[in-house]
Amino acid sequence: MSKSTNITWHDAAITKSDRRIQNRHGSCVLWFTGLSGSGKSTIANAVSSELHRRGINEYVLDGDNIRHGLNRDLGFSDYDRTENIRRIGEVAKLFVDNGTVVTTAFISPFRSDRDQIRSLFEKEEFIEVYVECPLEECERRDPKQLYAKARRGEIKDFTGIDSPYQAPERPEITVRSDLLTVKDAVGQIFQYLQEKNII
Ligand code: PPS
Repeated sequence: MSKSTNITWHDAAITKSDRRIQNRHGSCVLWFTGLSGSGKSTIANAVSSELHRRGINEYVLDGDNIRHGLNRDLGFSDYDRTENIRRIGEVAKLFVDNGTVVTTAFISPFRSDRDQIRSLFEKEEFIEVYVECPLEECERRDPKQLYAKARRGEIKDFTGIDSPYQAPERPEITVRSDLLTVKDAVGQIFQYLQEKNII
């Protein structure tokens, strides 16, 4: 990969804190991680809808969607997943700088990649949300029939089957999507955001 040289960082006229004051709320990234079919996108979208209803600046970055555009050149090798997550982390940082509560819904299977993203943010800005659901339950749900394909060997490197998932060790929030309703999961996340005075 070629690297840019002779570049200078420009400070923007309007800062993150200016935007937060105008918005009357904080900004952060809710970084959802979990197996395919665990409910990341469903819960992230439900959180975003409720934020929107309350007049809070929000945005969802979703795995399948981003892979149609920005990351269309990436597949599911370990290297490509790391690059996928690196780019999303940088995009999420722009949203947080813009004063937005951004939710990201990516498997993000590697702990070191998630820790690398965490290091881009101030402490309270990065909220790791582990959507915990047993593999057997994700496989039973199989909304896109991808587990079935992976078991038949029609998809290679499928997370949980022949590609690893490293669960977070100290996530800020753990949502047990096999035990909770979507509404309760949203409630749990809102409670956290309110306790931290983000919203
Ligand atoms: S990653 O690991 O974070 O880079 O993956 P992500 O960008 O979130 O993309 C996951 C979605 O891509 C579909 N898909 C696969 N997932 C895992 N492994 C393999 N090999 C694969 N191939 C396609 C799948 O629909 C995932 O969506 P979710 O919403 O997680 O089910």
